[in-house]
Amino acid sequence: MNVLFVSSEVTPFAKTGGLADVSGVLPKYLQKEGCEVKVVMPRYYGIDRDKLEKLPMAIGINMGVLGEFWIALYRGYLPNSKVEIYFIEYEKYYGRSGLYNEKGVAYIDNAQRFVLLSKASFEVAKALDFKPDIIHANDWHAATIPILLQTSYKNDSFFRDTKSVLTIHNLQFQGVFDKGVMDILGIDWKYYNPFELEAMGAVNLLKGGIAFCDALTTVSPTYAKEIQTKEFGFGLEEHIKAHSYKLTGILNGVDYDEWNPAKDKFIAKNYDLKNLEDKKECKRDLLESFGLEVNLDKPLIGYVGRFAEQKGIYLISQVIERVMDLDISFVMLGSGERWAEEFFGGLSRKYPKKFASYIGYNNEMAHKIEAGSDMFLMPSLFEPCGLNQIYSLRYATLPIVRAVGGLDDTIENYDKERDRGDGFKFWDATALALYHTVKWAVETYRYDKKGFKNMQKRAIKKRFSWEKSAKEYIGVYKGTMKRMVRDD
Ligand code: ADP
Ligand code: GLC
Repeated sequence: MNVLFVSSEVTPFAKTGGLADVSGVLPKYLQKEGCEVKVVMPRYYGIDRDKLEKLPMAIGINMGVLGEFWIALYRGYLPNSKVEIYFIEYEKYYGRSGLYNEKGVAYIDNAQRFVLLSKASFEVAKALDFKPDIIHANDWHAATIPILLQTSYKNDSFFRDTKSVLTIHNLQFQGVFDKGVMDILGIDWKYYNPFELEAMGAVNLLKGGIAFCDALTTVSPTYAKEIQTKEFGFGLEEHIKAHSYKLTGILNGVDYDEWNPAKDKFIAKNYDLKNLEDKKECKRDLLESFGLEVNLDKPLIGYVGRFAEQKGIYLISQVIERVMDLDISFVMLGSGERWAEEFFGGLSRKYPKKFASYIGYNNEMAHKIEAGSDMFLMPSLFEPCGLNQIYSLRYATLPIVRAVGGLDDTIENYDKERDRGDGFKFWDATALALYHTVKWAVETYRYDKKGFKNMQKRAIKKRFSWEKSAKEYIGVYKGTMKRMVRDD
């Protein structure tokens, strides 16, 4: 089976969040399971051309009213694999330091930038003479692909047997633009209607992708149900409900080569189930490197993530002072909303020995926090899958999570009576519920040491393998291929 996998970010080339982690690993597992996979992404400024192979071709892309654009193509490989990754070079659009925005301001030509990515994917497949059975498009950036496959490319014999799969990693971002984008897409205005591309007087690329794709997936079974409700649907719940017959939730896996305390090169001391006590050395190192008081008996809570409303940072900001009164240490790594950067950045001045924050992006530190913390806080308002809580499990760092989306699917709540569970969950999106759950976790750490240790042992043994998820994706691919012809 030939799979063309299109994503706007792929680890280790460009990353703002979990989409990159998934796009850097899933294709390798699809290939291991027997697919022939090629990945397509933009060549952003930060991606070093010298490490790539320039292909001797220029490809013309029809950008509708904007005319024809000429792109160049570079080839590389996903690390430790034979999976080819193709980089679309169009300097005017992608030769910038940000992926989607700069200094908090979204690029004003994002519609054009990602319509180009989608259109180029078709033409790259042709130029390489790679006939995809499946084009796997990720998030709104590539959601134009299913639309074009059913419109502009409908009668193109090269794609006669091609089906599209669209994966929603985050429904909050939909690619909503001025309706003039219809003329850049270059498709008939009849598709600009409330059942296909139109929403609230604008073009909604994700909505269109959902309407036209052959199969729709999202990154956890619970999120697949949630996005059909008003609370989590971001206005598309009715549209998704109408297309739910083709919707599947497939949990992300984890790259255990990258996230594994037994061989992690960033942490002070490697450990695993059999020498779990060595985790303490990572805690010492973490406290020291942040300049906090080194008291290994004091519970240490970690946070790594984007400072975005999604991640429950308002809830954290509302309770953090009461939480600090529980006499704990807290380490935070993240960046994003300015108010949060100011607020959490400033807190370390108030609690110089107990609270530390690093405002920015730092992979090494993310590893140190996963390894050195006793507990990991992730109180998301919504969470399609979430990766950090799964990494935490592998590091025997017990997650404190809100029971939504993938957080609910991956974490089992602590049950002291039956000695079960690997994390601490709460349901209400309130500061009070968050506070009491943190308190419960802290008290478990302090007064129920055996229970806490048993949870850690269960956590470190738990696995979320990409192999299993890749097989499920292949099941979805096969399902679309059974459907004989496309509808008119
Ligand atoms: P999302 O994709 O919504 O941001 P995920 O939990 O799926 O959430 O993935 C987040 C990924 O980004 C993880 O690999 C996490 O370690 C990483 N990450 C987020 N913020 C930072 C940061 N400030 N520094 C380093 N890594 C980060
Ligand atoms: C998104 C979601 C996150 C998910 C990631 C990868 O960024 O916010 O929950 O883990 O995509 O699928």
